[in-house]
Amino acid sequence: MRGTTVWITGLPASGKSTVAGALAEDLAAHDRHAVLLDGDELRRGLNADLGFGKADRAENVRRVGEVAKLFALAGVVAIVAAISPYRAGREGARSAHAAAGAGFLEVFMDTPARLCETRDPKGLYARARAGELPGFTGVDDPYERPENPDLVLTPAMGGSAELARLISALLDRAEAACA
Ligand code: ADX
Repeated sequence: MRGTTVWITGLPASGKSTVAGALAEDLAAHDRHAVLLDGDELRRGLNADLGFGKADRAENVRRVGEVAKLFALAGVVAIVAAISPYRAGREGARSAHAAAGAGFLEVFMDTPARLCETRDPKGLYARARAGELPGFTGVDDPYERPENPDLVLTPAMGGSAELARLISALLDRAEAACA
């Protein structure tokens, strides 16, 4: 079976990692191999040499896209959870997948900015507002909303398990269409 990358993009604290984890569980329960590529985690290893300037974020997203593509080509579902704030970077990942014949689904966590900032699980919005974290996405660095995502998820659509189910269903439809 052809693999697919599920690329989850959104503001910090929009719920990307939680939904990505729920999707991995959902897929495992259906005997589907998946790998989780979480921005935070990759930045501790593969991308530890990169910061948060525009060029470094572009390189971060490019590398994550290349790794995801390799998994997808091996028949695995690669679940990416990364802010990936710039449209060009996400489109680059989509094009790289298309050129290689791997599936790619862009999922937008459309959680209102106010809610993300209220959640602030790591206290990073507070630090950014205090001027301690310059260039923080959603505060003083832009998040470019996807213009044509494959799926838009909002908090009104349910909790992480429900949102993961919606992604799974989309994945099933996309893979059936390519079978
Ligand atoms: S991306 O913009 O390059 O796609 P990525 O998803 O890998 O970002 O990493 C985001 C994580 O880095 C956040 O969850 C947060 O914990 C941390 N972080 C540290 N500094 C920043 C910053 N200036 N902007 C956004 N996230 C930051």
